Formats: sequence, C-alpha cells, structure tokens
Amino acid sequence: MAKGKKVTVYFCQSCGYESSKWMGQCPGCGEWSTFVEESIEKTAVGKGISKGEELRTRKLSEIDMQDKGRVVTGFRELDRVLGGGIVQGSLVLVGGDPGIGKSTLLLQVCRNLAESMEVLYISGEESLQQIKMRAQRIGQFSDGLQLFCETSMERIEQVVERQKPRVVIIDSIQTIYSEGIGSAPGSVSQVRETTARLLQIAKGVDITIFIVGHVTKEGVVAGPRVLEHMVDTVLYFEGDRHASYRILRGVKNRFGSTNEIGVFEMQESGLQEVENPSEFMLNGKPQGASGSVVACSMEGTRPILVEIQALVCHSNFGIPRRTAAGTDLTRVNLLMAVLEKRAGLSLSSSDAYVNIAGGVRMNEPAIDLGIVMALASSFRNKAIDDKAICFGEVGLSGEVRAVNMAQQRVSEAKKLGFATCILPKVCIPSLTNIKGIQLVGVENIREAILRISP
Ligand code: TYD
Ligand code: MG
Repeated sequence: MAKGKKVTVYFCQSCGYESSKWMGQCPGCGEWSTFVEESIEKTAVGKGISKGEELRTRKLSEIDMQDKGRVVTGFRELDRVLGGGIVQGSLVLVGGDPGIGKSTLLLQVCRNLAESMEVLYISGEESLQQIKMRAQRIGQFSDGLQLFCETSMERIEQVVERQKPRVVIIDSIQTIYSEGIGSAPGSVSQVRETTARLLQIAKGVDITIFIVGHVTKEGVVAGPRVLEHMVDTVLYFEGDRHASYRILRGVKNRFGSTNEIGVFEMQESGLQEVENPSEFMLNGKPQGASGSVVACSMEGTRPILVEIQALVCHSNFGIPRRTAAGTDLTRVNLLMAVLEKRAGLSLSSSDAYVNIAGGVRMNEPAIDLGIVMALASSFRNKAIDDKAICFGEVGLSGEVRAVNMAQQRVSEAKKLGFATCILPKVCIPSLTNIKGIQLVGVENIREAILRISP
C-alpha cells in the first residue's frame, strides 16, 4: 500500500462516527463521551486500474448459482437464528456484554463442528490453559478443533491461509490488531481494518468466520455496532446476568430472516438449548395477582408467551414516575394516555411501573393489549383470569387492531393449557380448527378490560 499522510481523527467508539475534532456528544448516535483520538494514514486514491484490464458487468441470467449448502451446528436454536445453519464463506458477528457467554457458545459450536470438519478457535483473550478449563466443563472434544492464542492480524492471516480450516472463530475482535494501523487494539480504525481483512479471507478462501465483539458501556473500545455493516450476519447474545437463560437474537442476516431468537440456559456444563421458551418464561408467575397478565409475542417464526406485570399506584410527585423494563417506555406512556382518554381510567396522577418478567426485551406491537390489561388490572386492583392470555395492537382511538400469525399464537396458548384467549375481533375469521380454547374477540380496549374480574 502506498504510504500516506498521517492524520488525527476522532471516532465515536459506539457507532463509528468520524470527526476532525473532539465532541462531547456524538451527532450520529447521541451517546456522550465516546470520542477517542486515533491517528490514521490517509492514502491518496489512485486510478487503480491498469490499461487493458477488462471491467465487465453481468446480467442476472449469466450468473451460475451453485447451492452453497449449509452446515448445521448441532445447536438447533443457533441454526434457526442463522436461517438454517452456517453458510460457507460467511462472516458472522456475535455481539454481547462481557461475561454473557459468547465464548462458551462458540466453543460449544466448535465442539459440534469439530466432529466432522477442521475448526480453528483463535483467542486473543484467554490462554490455552483457560480455554482447556472451559472445554473441560463443556465435555469431550474431538481432534478436529485446533486452538491458537494470537492477537496479531498478520500472523492470524498466515495461519488461516496455511491451515485452511472450514470454520474460524475470532475471540474477540477488540483484542486483534494490525501492525499497519497506528492506533491501539480495540479502536475503531483497528476493528474496522481487521474485520475488512477477515472479510477478504472469508470470501477469498471460502471459510466461515465467527467474530466475537464485546458491547461496551464505557466507550473505550469500539463496540460491535461499528462493524454491523461489514458482516453478513449479526447476532446479539443477551440476557439478564442474574437469570440463567440467554437469548440469541438475529439483527441482520443476508442469508435468512432476522428477528429470530434462540433461547439457551447457562448451566454448570455450558449452554443448554431451551426447547419450549414459553414454559420457561412463565415459570414462577403468581396466581391471582393483580397487574399480571400473559401476552404473546412473535419472535421471528416462533410465538413466545411472556408475563407482563404492571404496578400502578398514587404518585406523591407533581410529575408521576413511569418506568418500563423490557419494553419501550414511550409506548407505555402512549398506552396510558389511550387508557385515560378512551377507557376513562384516571392514570395521570399515578406512578406506573411496567415489567416484562424474566428480563427479556419484547417490542412487538402485539403485546400492547397485554400492557393495557396489566395496567388496568393493577389500577383497579383486580386480577385477570390466570388461564387467559391476550394479544393485539392498540391504536390511538383505543381500537384493538389485527396482528399477524394469530393462528400460531392461539395454538401456542392452547398447547400450554390456557383456556381463554383475548384477541382482536378481526383476527377470528382467519382462525381455523381451534378447539379447546375459548376465543374472546374484542374491538376496543373498553371491551378488553371488561374481562378483568368485576
Ligand atoms: P463467557 O463465555 O466467558 O462470556 P463472554 O465470552 O461473553 O465474555 O461466559 C462466562 C460466564 O459463563 C461465567 O460467568 C461463567 C459462566 N459459565 C457457566 O455458568 N457454565 C459453564 O459451563 C461455563 C463454561 C461458563
Ligand atoms: Mg469471552
């Protein structure tokens, strides 16, 4: 590469926004104190094309399709999020908070894959002994897995090109550095440069590469968000540190649908798949308590039942306190305004706390009706039937609007033994073959809250 001029720039470590001077707040993502100085080399862009080189465009019909096929990881929850397995030659980013279980997940994936192919696990964070200790907790490994502790991109490149494994794991991108770049490992220019090189390897040698990226709050190292646009698939591993389950969420996928989730439980011997997440999420739901209701959210192609809790009490302040855990606070405020105006509940001087039990995040509009029912139930201090679930989107006029995949939601409720389902009236004609569960179609929130015991 031609030697260029060294310049100093400032990068937002959260979103990668570039600026020539330091700023307190990032105009790109709105985060504070995330700008860090980095020196980069600007090279003049050459013409880049030699005479006589053929630049040819192609028609769609001229492109041969070879079915690349997918490799199943042996983890059904992960395969679903990936869209049916690993696509050869793809670059997958696995982001998440430190300590959430990214290394454990990928080591378990290595274990499954190593049975039938060459896998290389490159760690810049742990020593070989530490990895072995973790592996011993997980179980027996075959010799298809090779380990390598390295942080230099140049050396990683050499090893990967020599060994040509089918799958490579880079744990984590924030520890890898390229000698050509002046700034420290973990800075925006380093993680971008190293990811670009990994992308070249993945596409050039047809290797699947998994990149681990820590989500950081302090803004000292660049977060995975700055890489999202470069990779094929972005998965986030999330969960409450105090709870044992973890959720793997697909955020971007060039080879499948997004919004899919995979549910795992962290146990003594690593991560175990959770086959029936609804059952898991509803564990410990109180019986006959006011302000608690079961709602149904579609996560990708799978319906998941969750308990929504609300606590409404008189406020001692001029401006009432409202919080929402696991869902959007603006949405909760809006639904409270709708309840006040369209159902006549005087909530304006009440504090309200809404929580999706278990620490999961759900943002689907279909849980609106659940939030409304939980708020109304707590406000009136009357419980909702324990054997009932509800779903539906709530509009500003207080109408309960149709949601998609009603059939799957009702079936899931039936499977888990619920007796009643409160749902948008317009959804009922689309349901077929529903027996053993009572359907209560509602047109607006007034009709819905009539279901709360008088
Ligand atoms: P880890 O995979 O190291 O997290 P990350 O790579 O995302 O930083 O996960 C570490 C946590 O997982 C740690 O708190 C211990 C726990 N753990 C188990 O509970 N059981 C296990 O079998 C393993 C390997 C880890
Ligand atoms: Mg780790």
